[in-house]
Amino acid sequence: MTVVEHPELLRDIDRVTLDMMLHSGNDFLEKRASTEGYAPLYGAPALIILSAPGGNDANGFNMANVSCAAENMILAATELGLGSCFVMGPMMAFANPELAGRLGLPEGYVPLVGVLVGYALHGLKSNMRNESGNVTWLE
Ligand SMILES: Cc1cc2nc3c(=O)[nH]c(=O)nc-3n(C[C@H](O)[C@H](O)[C@H](O)COP(=O)(O)O)c2cc1C
Repeated sequence: MTVVEHPELLRDIDRVTLDMMLHSGNDFLEKRASTEGYAPLYGAPALIILSAPGGNDANGFNMANVSCAAENMILAATELGLGSCFVMGPMMAFANPELAGRLGLPEGYVPLVGVLVGYALHGLKSNMRNESGNVTWLE
C-alpha cells in the first residue's frame, strides 16, 4: 500500500492519466477525459495505491485481494466522514516508468487499484439501493 499525499506527484499522476485517457482509443475514456473540468483524481488530497507482486494473476486472486482491502478503506473513510472513490483508471499512469519509479514499490509490485480520499465538497450522500432484479435467490 502506498499513500500519496505529495501534491506534485498527485498532480503528475492526474496529468499523465488524463493524457493517456485522451489518447486511449477507447470511446468512453476519451469522452470522459474531454468533459469540461474533469480531473481523474478529482482534486483529492490523498490517493492510496494498492499493488500486488506481478500485477493481476490468471485467477484474479491479486485483484480480489487488493479490492477487498480497498473496500474496507472506503467503509472506514465513510465512517470517519471522509469522501472516497474506488479508482482503476489512474493506475494506467504507472505504465509510465518514470512515474511508477516515484512510487518506490518493492521489486515486481504492480499498482492495481486506488482509493481517493478527501473531504467531500458537498457532503456525503447515500445511494438508495434500487430493486433492479439483479439478485437471484436460490432457496
Ligand atoms: C472496477 C471499477 C473501477 C472503477 N474505476 C473508476 C475510475 O477510474 N474513476 C472513477 O471516477 N470511478 C471509477 N469507478 C467508479 C466508482 O468507484 C464508483 O463505483 C462510482 O462512482 C459509483 O459510485 P456510487 O454507486 O457510490 O455512486 C470504478 C468502479 C469500479 C467497480
